[in-house]
Amino acid sequence: MEYQQSVIKLIKIRKSCRTYDGKAVEKITLQKLIDYATQINEKAKIKVRFTLVNNNNLEGKLGTYGNISGAKSFFVGILHKEEKDATEFGYLFEKIILFATDLGLQTCWLGGGFNRRDFKQNANILENEFIPIVSPVGIKKETPRLIESVLRIAVGADQRKPWSELIFKGNAAVPLSESDAGPYAIPLEMVRLAPSASNKQPWRIIKDNNALHFYLCRTRSYGVSNYDMQKNDIGIAKCHFELSAIELGLTGKWQQIANINALDDWEYITSWI
Ligand SMILES: Cc1cc2nc3c(=O)[nH]c(=O)nc-3n(C[C@H](O)[C@H](O)[C@H](O)COP(=O)(O)O)c2cc1C
Repeated sequence: MEYQQSVIKLIKIRKSCRTYDGKAVEKITLQKLIDYATQINEKAKIKVRFTLVNNNNLEGKLGTYGNISGAKSFFVGILHKEEKDATEFGYLFEKIILFATDLGLQTCWLGGGFNRRDFKQNANILENEFIPIVSPVGIKKETPRLIESVLRIAVGADQRKPWSELIFKGNAAVPLSESDAGPYAIPLEMVRLAPSASNKQPWRIIKDNNALHFYLCRTRSYGVSNYDMQKNDIGIAKCHFELSAIELGLTGKWQQIANINALDDWEYITSWI
């Protein structure tokens, strides 16, 4: 198993946190985070590395423009400038987020709202690298700041689209019921619970006989300028699906099927077979 606790439980309890208690994470816990990130770095098939940066005596040095308060450590995700695989990046970063959750810590995916220059300096970024995502890591303050509550309401952070808008049977017009999903009901529900940029939930899945085809339904006017944030969201969904399927003993693997086309405005990504 990837974690000490059930991954299904971890996915259910993870929630973005933007108000931390201002205390440094214990050294022994930090070391566990670093060790896990090192393991991910060593196994990664793309040009990526994840590192932990501490903000201990430098209140405000790692700028997050008031979006995050009281965090003393941050995970920093670093990609080679030529590396385009945002799906794999999202998959790997979510593994780290769930590992932190397993250790009783809170996190928050940040694709924006942080000072890239501060993080570049503190994470020793090379000329040919950039930072698509960072996440604070620490213990939440019991009462969140008003700004955090307002932000959660603004993006509907506690809501997810219903199954009928995300998961389909045979084609994109027929919703798949949870009972029709059979043993895949739980892994599909874990996709539905995934975090996504601005909570847009761009994943769509079609079950076809024994295959589950994953598509990306892009949000209009959601640009892809330097980094494809919505492909990153698909990576998070893959992580939740795969780890929960493994936990349930379901066998299968990811496969790119050559003759599957895009559907209207849905981009085909991959299939679980
Ligand atoms: C790729 C990605 C980028 C995100 N970027 C930001 C961000 O820049 N600022 C922020 O406050 N939250 C950000 N979030 C957090 C989402 O708003 C949050 O995951 C979503 O509203 C669902 O809430 P939950 O994580 O508490 O379940 C991001 C999430 C993802 C997955």
